[in-house]
Amino acid sequence: MSDRDSTTRNLSIIGSTGSIGRQALEVVAADPERFRVVALAADRNVALIAEQSRQFRPELVAVRDQTAADELRRRLAPERIPVYGGTEGLLAAATATRADLVVVAVVGSAGLPLTLAAIAAGKDVALANKETLVAGGELVTRAARERGIRLIPVDSEHSALLQCLAGSRAAEVRRLVLTASGGPFRGYSRDRLATVTPEMALNHPTWAMGPKISVDSATLVNKGLEVIEAHWLFGVEFERIDVVVHPQSLVHSLVEFVDGTHLAQVGPPDMRRPIQYALTYPRRQPAPWPGLDLAKAAAMTFEAVDTKAFPSLRLAYEAGKMGGTATAVLSAADEVAVGLFLERRIGFLDIERVVEEVLLRHIPQPAPTLAGIMAADEWARAEAKKAAAGRR
Ligand SMILES: NC(=O)c1ccc[n+]([C@@H]2O[C@H](COP(=O)([O-])OP(=O)(O)OC[C@H]3O[C@@H](n4cnc5c(N)ncnc54)[C@H](OP(=O)(O)O)[C@@H]3O)[C@@H](O)[C@H]2O)c1
Repeated sequence: MSDRDSTTRNLSIIGSTGSIGRQALEVVAADPERFRVVALAADRNVALIAEQSRQFRPELVAVRDQTAADELRRRLAPERIPVYGGTEGLLAAATATRADLVVVAVVGSAGLPLTLAAIAAGKDVALANKETLVAGGELVTRAARERGIRLIPVDSEHSALLQCLAGSRAAEVRRLVLTASGGPFRGYSRDRLATVTPEMALNHPTWAMGPKISVDSATLVNKGLEVIEAHWLFGVEFERIDVVVHPQSLVHSLVEFVDGTHLAQVGPPDMRRPIQYALTYPRRQPAPWPGLDLAKAAAMTFEAVDTKAFPSLRLAYEAGKMGGTATAVLSAADEVAVGLFLERRIGFLDIERVVEEVLLRHIPQPAPTLAGIMAADEWARAEAKKAAAGRR
């Protein structure tokens, strides 16, 4: 008798042209009987979303950019697939009638309103966009609880924690331990970090990812965002969330239980596995990608984070403990600073300086609404640009 769960999942994939979106579609293509794509959405990559639409035949497609939407309509006219443009279009994809699981794989602050819309429409959410929980963790987790919506993490660390926590009670958990590869600059001195270029920062040693998260991994801001994400996803205080450097990226995170036992989730650094787990959750299904050959695997080593060289991790903990709008400010200031670094307008170490300067100027508002979060986000972006201008 087959152990396969025979239910078909209807997916809406927002950010389908990005690193996570493309890999989510690989997962879908590997098991077409299990998944059906009902909506696809992206920012403006018309060529790729047109190709994806021809292959997966969604019921609707959306791109945020209106000019891109016009071009996409022209390209998809023979296919008779409706094309929506603008924020409205993205919201239509996030709430598509037939979708039962919405994959939020856009980058940056665009994820929060889309996640909230999907929850309000009663859709389960597979959440890759970490900025959503960093900016609006309280709001999003409350909305999901009230609507009985599953918020399933896609991020490999949080997927690992979800898997390690399965079947345990909250009182049995002592700590969550997130692993960090250490990024491309592990072991660098501050002097050396000051000379880092965008090309060097985009060249991650173990993961192939989009540009923003690659730079965030290099500064360790990414790990800080993940600590905040873990706090909201699993309801664990910041004092009980640790980070340990594990350069091989084979152990994706661990849970330490009250009896001193650690459970770890182990596998090759391949995002298709956590994506598939999120898409089939709570079931685990066969996957066609090679698993880890333990006998051939490199040694698994662990070391403490060098917080002197990489103070951004501490900043994220501080913002998390400040609470309210502080984490939205952290996220928005970082997004601006990373953009300016990629445009070569500020240096690598200026990213953390800009974020710290903006955070120091911020007076957090407790329990913010979506409007409060958006206002804090807007304020932080303007302040980050000012802080960066002072560094050029
Ligand atoms: N990549 C990873 O391995 C990984 C792992 C864990 C978590 N994550 C998280 O997953 C999210 C996506 O990361 P990624 O690496 O896949 O990013 P990415 O490769 O840069 O892709 C971003 C996607 O979002 C779309 N997009 C960008 N801005 C948008 C907007 N304003 N409105 C609508 N769509 C927009 C892009 O469309 P266009 O192509 O049209 O520009 C693209 O489809 C991030 O929050 C990241 O932190 C990523």
